[in-house]
Amino acid sequence: MLAVRGSLLHFLRDPGGEGSSGAEYFEDGLLLLRDGHVLEAGDAQALLQRLPAQTVLKDFSGKLLLPGFVDCHIHYPQTDMIASYGEQLLDWLEKYTFPAERRFEDPAHAREVADFFLEELLRNGTTTALVLGTVHPQSVEAIFEASRVRGLRMIAGKVLMDRNCPEDLRDTPASGDAQTRALIERWHGRDRMLYAVTPRFAPTSSAEQLRRAGRLLEEFPDVYLHTHLAENRSEVTWVAELFPSSRSYLDVYAGFGLVRPRSVFAHCIHLDHADRKLMAERGAMVAFCPTANLFLGSGLFDLLRARECGLAVGLGTDVGAGTSFSMLRTMQEAYKVAQLGGQTLSPYRALYLATLGGAQALKLEHKIGSFEAGKEGDFVVIDLAATPLLERRMRHARSLPEKLFAMIMLGDDRCIAATYAMGREVYAAGRHAPT
Ligand code: GUN
Ligand code: ZN
Repeated sequence: MLAVRGSLLHFLRDPGGEGSSGAEYFEDGLLLLRDGHVLEAGDAQALLQRLPAQTVLKDFSGKLLLPGFVDCHIHYPQTDMIASYGEQLLDWLEKYTFPAERRFEDPAHAREVADFFLEELLRNGTTTALVLGTVHPQSVEAIFEASRVRGLRMIAGKVLMDRNCPEDLRDTPASGDAQTRALIERWHGRDRMLYAVTPRFAPTSSAEQLRRAGRLLEEFPDVYLHTHLAENRSEVTWVAELFPSSRSYLDVYAGFGLVRPRSVFAHCIHLDHADRKLMAERGAMVAFCPTANLFLGSGLFDLLRARECGLAVGLGTDVGAGTSFSMLRTMQEAYKVAQLGGQTLSPYRALYLATLGGAQALKLEHKIGSFEAGKEGDFVVIDLAATPLLERRMRHARSLPEKLFAMIMLGDDRCIAATYAMGREVYAAGRHAPT
């Protein structure tokens, strides 16, 4: 038994546009865990009275405990080329991304980057991510192996890519299918790992490859589908040329049976009403990646319209097009994107999107995303006074939402005091994490 004391905040449902409905907060709270799972979360004064003997007590009083952050879209092989200058999507892929991904043919390189990448996620309080590998199956072996030793809940997949990319980064419909199948059989549902069938995006897969991806999903209905959709205007035009009979970019994926629950589409900036409606009806979800969308000049995601259409949305960092591993930074930029679109994003909804919202979007809300009893004990400890400016700003905050908003706007990895997975410390500020 582990009891963790601190201010607890989590969500039981989407708080919607404004206000704190769906949020539960215990200023002096206690999170009780048994065998790595949440037993109870509540008021510390009450729960401390009836703690079983031999409970280990960890005191984070004055700090904020949130469920571990959920990053719904990230490329681990792009860790080494994050922050590469001067291009928009299609040129950026050619100039920076493909050369970086080529190196993952080497399993030793893949494992070294995977280890760094997971440490960086944990340093930022992220405990679950939906991760793209490269075209090389060994890239996925590396990230799953590195996740397994840390006991993390991770979803990953090998990129399917058989055309319109460098020759030495291509698979074929048959090899991509066989490699994916072998990875699903080896990793999906093993410990906390789950698999995502991952065509990079429509331009780099032939119709035959997309057809086979659809067949794999029929055969393994509880695996994910993970890809990019309608991020950049030149990309959208290119897809229209490559698939002239499809009504829209989304319709290309829909035609191959790829739009269904557990389908996660990154970006979704240039969609129309019919696309949003179809995605919502089919139970597909969006990964909103604000730092990447601003960095590549792709456009402004319409968060309000997505909510009105009942479309599930999670947040993604999209490293290396995204400029930060930090979900706090990602929430900051999501707020600014909303502002640029004449909308807003309340601190409660931003934090919901980064925790339970992401878990719901990944259909994992029965396992992660909140402190409800029975859930896996993944959480993050946030120091609201981590920098002189934060400490000063907090002194002037009169309410919880004011504090949370200032934390989102000014916070980053410096605020993460500790990260836990299944009730086990996997990161502590100033200390190397045990693996
Ligand atoms: N579209 C296809 N591939 C990629 C990628 O690696 N990053 C981003 N942001 N968009 C993509
Ligand atoms: Zn991406």
